[in-house]
Amino acid sequence: MLLMAVAGLGVGCGNPDEAPAKETAQELTEAEARALYIRKCSLCHGDDGKLMASKSPDLSQSNLSLAERVALVTYGKGTMPGQKGTLNRSEIRAVAQYIERFRE
Ligand code: HEC
Repeated sequence: MLLMAVAGLGVGCGNPDEAPAKETAQELTEAEARALYIRKCSLCHGDDGKLMASKSPDLSQSNLSLAERVALVTYGKGTMPGQKGTLNRSEIRAVAQYIERFRE
């Protein structure tokens, strides 16, 4: 019986089409990361990272590492606001990862 219960729990974890199971409570879905980006970042960086408003750099030309981006988004730099008090660590990481798609 116990074995069956354990096997039952495993179902649903492997299907990428399903809403991400909360077994990885840390991970945000891509849609959530995108929503955060649009809400917090697109004002300056634009939907595609290329807006360059408020003297922000073109994110498609950025080659910072993920760790560097996480730090930058957390603490901010120059006129870019840090998100330390507004986003949690998973959210910051998700958004920092999300912008990799803009790279050319
Ligand atoms: C108020 C405008 C503004 C907002 C909002 C903003 N940024 Fe920025 N961003 C900037 C500016 C300005 C810089 C350049 C900072 C510097 O080097 O002085 C920058 C730099 C960056 C860089 C570094 C690019 C590089 O290679 O140098 C990344 C990555 C980045 N922003 C991502 C984000 C993300 C992700 C968000 C949302 C959480 C965000 N930004 C929100 C203005 C903004």
